[in-house]
Amino acid sequence: MRVAIIGAGKMGRWFTRFFLGEGDSVIVSSRGKEKLLKIRDEFGVEITDNVKAVKKADRVLICVPLENFEAVVKEIHSHIRPDQVVMDICSIKERPVKIMHEYIKTGITLGTHPVFGPGVKSIENQNFVLTPINDEEKLFAREFKSWLEERQGNVFIMSPRKHDELMSVVLGLPHFLGLVVCDTLLNYPDFLETKKVAGASYKMLLTLAEAVASEETEFYTSLQMNLPEIEKIEGLFLKKSEEWLNMVRRKDRSAFARKMELVKTELREVNPDYAGSYEVMHRLLDAVKS
Ligand SMILES: NC(=O)c1ccc[n+]([C@@H]2O[C@H](COP(=O)([O-])OP(=O)(O)OC[C@H]3O[C@@H](n4cnc5c(N)ncnc54)[C@H](OP(=O)(O)O)[C@@H]3O)[C@@H](O)[C@H]2O)c1
Repeated sequence: MRVAIIGAGKMGRWFTRFFLGEGDSVIVSSRGKEKLLKIRDEFGVEITDNVKAVKKADRVLICVPLENFEAVVKEIHSHIRPDQVVMDICSIKERPVKIMHEYIKTGITLGTHPVFGPGVKSIENQNFVLTPINDEEKLFAREFKSWLEERQGNVFIMSPRKHDELMSVVLGLPHFLGLVVCDTLLNYPDFLETKKVAGASYKMLLTLAEAVASEETEFYTSLQMNLPEIEKIEGLFLKKSEEWLNMVRRKDRSAFARKMELVKTELREVNPDYAGSYEVMHRLLDAVKS
């Protein structure tokens, strides 16, 4: 099979390597020359422009940021053949799926989101969300799900809207938390000294905060600006922070302890696998190290 990858950035590179590893032939197109030439030199793949890549492929995988997505679809849509499959990998699904349906009238389209970054080695144990919206797409999504599962990927099928709502929490909230924590700590005069004496919980927090702050500004900004439920969950987080802070301000020991016990009970109810905090912390630290 011949796969066209449009967008030679981090994920485009990742999927180039992945499909080559599957024994597929890969052709890559992108906007700038620099990343494209690097991919050609590293993987020995053919490089070309977006339209030629589409014309030569059986499947098309669009790996560009949401902000550039419509321009790409507008450019390629009239060249899609009825036998072709066009998928995108945008981290937000409602808008790209709508754009694909608006322009692409031939071939099958499917919204996908690999919920992992370019640092992972394989799709083993990685989460994928597929967002088909009509019968033809649902049929293809089921086939593609089985194909990914044969490679040990974890695949979830849901509507684009549901995906975006869940991602407001799964991506939006930890990114927001990480950035606010960094901003807070950078305003704390003895930040560097705190790092020297860090315990397990602080190490966890720093790992999250510093990892988030070192990521691509454009990408993270785009997620915060476009995820649909983001203000709701981040607003709830601020409201909850205020409630907890008020108990601390009042030095209301019994209210704080009661609330903490309630949180533990509710966690156990919603998640029977919930383990004690010490165990959870070490499990997470091990996961971060691996
Ligand atoms: N990074 C992640 O962790 C991650 C994870 C899952 C999904 N995603 C999704 O994957 C997509 C790509 O992310 P990324 O991290 O790979 O971004 P990236 O590193 O910024 O790469 C994007 C690539 O798209 C190219 N591009 C932009 N406009 C184009 C156009 N009109 N025609 C052809 N190519 C064009 C860019 O070209 P230039 O070189 O000229 O800029 C760049 O090479 C995004 O939609 C993102 O939401 C990302």
